This record gives sequence, C-alpha cells and structure tokens, in this order.
Amino acid sequence: MNAIVNQKLDTQALIDYLAGHEKKSLLRFLTCGSVDDGKSTLIGRLLYDTKLIFEDQLAGIERDSKKFGTTGEDIDLALLVDGLQAEREQGITIDVAYRFFTTDKRKFIVADTPGHEQYTRNMATGASNSDLAVILIDARKGILTQTRRHSFIVSLLGIRHVVLAVNKIDLMDYSEAVFEQIVAEYREFSAGFGFETLQAIPLSARYGDNVLGHSDKMPWYKGPTLVEHLETVDVSRDLTAQPFRFPVQWVNRPDLNFRGFSGTIASGLVKPGDAVAVAKSGKTSRIRTVTTYDGDLAQAQAGQAVTLTLEDEIDISRGDILSPPDSRPEVSDQFQAHLIWMSEEPLLPGRPYLIKVGNKTVSATATEIKHKIDVNSFAELAAKTLALNEVAVVNLVTQEPVAFDPYAANHETGAFIVIDRVSNLTLGAGMIDHSLRRASNIHWQALDVSKATRASAKHQRPAVLWFTGLSGAGKSTIANLVEKRLLSLGHHTYLLDGDNVRHGLNKDLGFTAGDRVENIRRVAEVAKLMTDAGLITLVSFISPFRAERQLARDLLETGEFIEIHVATPLAVAEQRDVKGLYAKARAGEIKNFTGIDSPYEAPEHAEIVVDTSDATADAVAEEIVRYMFDHGYLTAAPEYEI
Ligand code: ADX
Repeated sequence: MNAIVNQKLDTQALIDYLAGHEKKSLLRFLTCGSVDDGKSTLIGRLLYDTKLIFEDQLAGIERDSKKFGTTGEDIDLALLVDGLQAEREQGITIDVAYRFFTTDKRKFIVADTPGHEQYTRNMATGASNSDLAVILIDARKGILTQTRRHSFIVSLLGIRHVVLAVNKIDLMDYSEAVFEQIVAEYREFSAGFGFETLQAIPLSARYGDNVLGHSDKMPWYKGPTLVEHLETVDVSRDLTAQPFRFPVQWVNRPDLNFRGFSGTIASGLVKPGDAVAVAKSGKTSRIRTVTTYDGDLAQAQAGQAVTLTLEDEIDISRGDILSPPDSRPEVSDQFQAHLIWMSEEPLLPGRPYLIKVGNKTVSATATEIKHKIDVNSFAELAAKTLALNEVAVVNLVTQEPVAFDPYAANHETGAFIVIDRVSNLTLGAGMIDHSLRRASNIHWQALDVSKATRASAKHQRPAVLWFTGLSGAGKSTIANLVEKRLLSLGHHTYLLDGDNVRHGLNKDLGFTAGDRVENIRRVAEVAKLMTDAGLITLVSFISPFRAERQLARDLLETGEFIEIHVATPLAVAEQRDVKGLYAKARAGEIKNFTGIDSPYEAPEHAEIVVDTSDATADAVAEEIVRYMFDHGYLTAAPEYEI
C-alpha cells in the first residue's frame, strides 16, 4: 500500500506523486447499499487502509469518534466519509460524492450514492460512468428490497461487473453458511441481469476483515479480498473492437481552406483513407487527416478527442455521426427505450420535451408508456404517467430523425437524456432498445392542390386564433362573436370548442394532466389540418399548459398562430359560474378543476391579451378583428367599417 499524502507535501512532491500514478489503470465503481449496511464505514475503511487520508483529518476523526462515535475506542470510519459529504456535487439535487484513492496497482474513483429509498436518480447518476458496482449487504438482514432495486438499476445501466460485499459477517460469527445462503439467493434473482463477473466477498468493514488483507477469522473463504479483487478485475469494454462511431461535436472552420469535424471518438478506430458515411444523409467520403493538438495521427481510437478532415466537401453538422459505410448506426424518428424518470414533474405522454442523443438535441414526445417496471418485483405494470424514480419502457417520437445505436450495442451512441424545454433541467435518462418502423412505409404525399391554392381560392390567409383561459373566462363567447364577424366578411372559418370536441373526437379523455395534454395535442393537429385546408380556425380550449400551446404553435408556420389569452381573473369567472362547475369543484364534487385544484399556466408572450371583467364580449371581439386587419390577416373589405 501506498504513499501518504498530507497537506504539508510540497508542490514538486505532489507532481511527482501524481506522475507516478499516471500510468496506472483507473477503475470507476459505485457503492450501493441501504442506510445501515455500513457503506460509509466500508468507504472509510478503503480510504483509511489505503492511507489516502489527510493526516489532520485523521486526528480529527480520532477525536470525534471518542465524542460521537458508535464504536467505543476504535476510530469510527463512518465519520470520515460523512464528514466529506460537504463536498458533494453542486447543482441539481443529485447527491453523488466522488472519492479518489489509489493502491500500487490501480487508481480508483468511487461514486458514493445515498441508499435512501427515493434515490434511484442519484444512483443512476453515479452508475452512469462506473465500470463496477459494489453491492453491500448486511449479513444479519440478507437480501432486501433495495438490494434488488439497486441491482436492477445497475444492470439496466449496463454495468457488467458486480461485487457482492456481505458485510458485518463478524456479527454472524463469520459463518460460512450465512454467506453461502445470501450468495445463492442473490445469484438466483440476478441470473438474468447480464453480469459478466459477480464476486461475492464476506467482510467486516468495521474490523477490516477481507477488505485489504485476508481475514484469519474466515479460513473457509478462499477468494480475493475486496481490494485484491478491485485491483485485478478486468472491466475493459473493448470499445476499439466495435464499429467506428464519431458524433460530431462541432464543425471547425478557422478559415476557408480548412473544414474539420471535432469530437470524441465514441467507439472503434479511425485512420486516414478510411471510408466514412454521414448517418443521416448517407453521403460518403474518405478520411484525409486525423488531427489533434499535437499534430496529425496515423490512427486514433475510442476515447480520443480529434478533428477529422475529409477528402470531399460534404454537408455535416453538429450531432451527425460518422461511421463506416458498411456498418452504420440506425436513423429513425421513432424508437423504444428504457427510461428512468428523475423529475418531480411527471412524464406526460404527448408532451413535447427535448432529448439529447450524442451531440444532437431534438424535440421529442413519448407516444406511449408500454409499461413501467416495479423495481422491487420486476413486474410490468400499466401506467399513464411516470413519477420521480420510476422506470419504464416507452415509445418515443422525435421531430426529426436521429442517428443512434441500441444501448446494448453501444453505450455512447445509445444513451440519451430528457430535458425540459423551458427550464433546461434534466428530467430523465434513457437507453434506446431499438427503432420502431411502424410508419416507415408511409411517405408524405405531395399533393397538387396546396395550402396556398386552397387559401387563395378562399381569398384569405389561413390562421389559427387560439383562445386560452380559465373555464368561464369568456373564450367561447368571444370566439363565437369573432367567427360571426369573419363570416360576415366573407371568410371561411371553423370553430373548435373544448366542450364540443370533448363530445366526439376526444370523448375518451378526462381532466388529468395526461388527458389534457392529449386533448390539446389532438386539437392542435386538427387545427393544423384545417389551416392546411385554408381555413381561419378558432380554437377555444382552456389549454392550461404552456408546453402544449407551444406544441400547437410549433406545428404551424411562423405567423399562423395567434395566441389570445382571455385573462379574466379566477374570482370573476368563479363569480359568474355560468355552468355551476366552480361551485361543484369547491364542494369537491369535481376533481382537477382548472384554477381550483389543477394549475393554469398563463401565456408569457400571447399575441393578444383580453379581459372580460372590464369590457363586453362584443368590444373584445372587435379588438381581435381589428388586430387581424392591422397585422395583415384580413384585408379591408369596402363594406366593412370598423
Ligand atoms: S382543457 O384543460 O383540456 O383544455 P377543455 O377546454 O377541453 O379543457 O374543457 C374545458 C371544459 O370542460 C370547461 O369549460 C368545463 O365546461 C368542462 N369541465 C369539466 N370538468 C372540468 C375540469 N375538471 N376542469 C376544467 N374544465 C372542466
């Protein structure tokens, strides 16, 4: 075991020290365990026994354990790790602490994630770049629900190496029978998890048995100690043996003579002369140079950051993937994936999100939650939405095709994150299973009669007037008046009204957040078709969520969507209570009523804002028609005086 680093080390010594470690291989692992399994003690023991602890910190712990410790005169190693918790990663509420230690043979980075029930998300974060997982078990308790949950997530994230650390074996008289029983049970339930190595080790973190050195208390155990195993286990995923994948991070064009594509090689090898294809366009060329800061290379491999230049000028942009022409990634706008949801806000099918696959960020929606997976029993359950920490198999549709590999084939090009369109927060992490080709034989029909011809036959410019606001705000009344005026001006219109559409097309939908999302998605699609038909379409729906109003806007061309916020305050709408629904909602007879127990997200950039508490519906309708004249949607008809 190795050098002691303390704060008095001078800089040169530190540089020498680090240089000495540079050549060693690095093992990244994470520890998973429940609250009292002794995880902190084990990590503390690893750090302590490998001597990579600041000396004054050690003195502090010796003092503290006398004061607070739970171990009598011994040093309480849990205090060491818990003390380090303060250095946690900042930012979003993900609680993962990374620690570093080293032995003669290897360097280690250990991701320590809290064992609390709710922390699937933290675990997934810690696991996402780990090669191995140490799953801790309290020998007294055996395999718990959480052991199963943690192992499942570890397997889901593609970790192929597991250490089953059966801790506190000292409290079970170092019993071989207890150990064997736990190991047998673990092997049975994890049989389908695809682990390449599974090393079970009986140990006592508190006393150090089988952590660093072999314990003389367990002569029956002939396997390696924890440190021996971590030092020698072969976790290399041979990324260089996989097909070449180069997700383009940016196009490097310092002057007109140079056009290079920069990024990190995700897998495989590349050298000048290799044929490459651009995944999405299918265009091909050959590699001219493989360049780095240190000059041109004869060959580069997975993990290296390089700039590639090509023989031909072909169109390539950020997010494209370069690959061998005969071994290309898939390109699709529909795929099935495993998704771990990490947000307090539920996943709602139909809602637009952003997803980032490799270097490409695109708009995407979950069209279907096929099933969620109970991470305790592994049962498949039906689900309409996904809550924090839930895992599901979903179908996703992206706005434009993306290039990817199934996660099982390539972790780098098969993983994605889900991002909130407004806050930019990470909402979930996914692993692509395979593409869906359901719609692959349906091609957009180019029709001879276009939107423009239909519209010009009607002598009008098509548009959508999207009325949003609380129930009883006056949306339908105003929309009705506007439609009458437009009709009298000779225009062709259609009014889609929430109450009416919910009697037909949307009669299968209620008022949960998920159903409202689907309600608006369908109406937005219908409004788009009507616009294509050349109509001026009026839409009168509460449409309480910003994300879906944005989706409707995005479906249309710039300038076609006119958002009208009927901003009558809740108090006024409730006072009117035309349909008597507010009274029922207050009495608890109607659930999820907008403004009462379901939110309304007011528009931030509506084209028109009106309020019927201080103006008549007629005056408001007039104002909207005036807007349409002023903005060129309507051209003044001689007989119409406004
Ligand atoms: S939306 O939220 O999905 O856009 P939509 O406009 O289709 O709602 O339907 C709203 C109408 O349904 C209201 O005007 C009201 O008459 C009726 N309604 C019935 N239950 C509810 C509810 N829980 N919340 C809001 N409106 C309801």
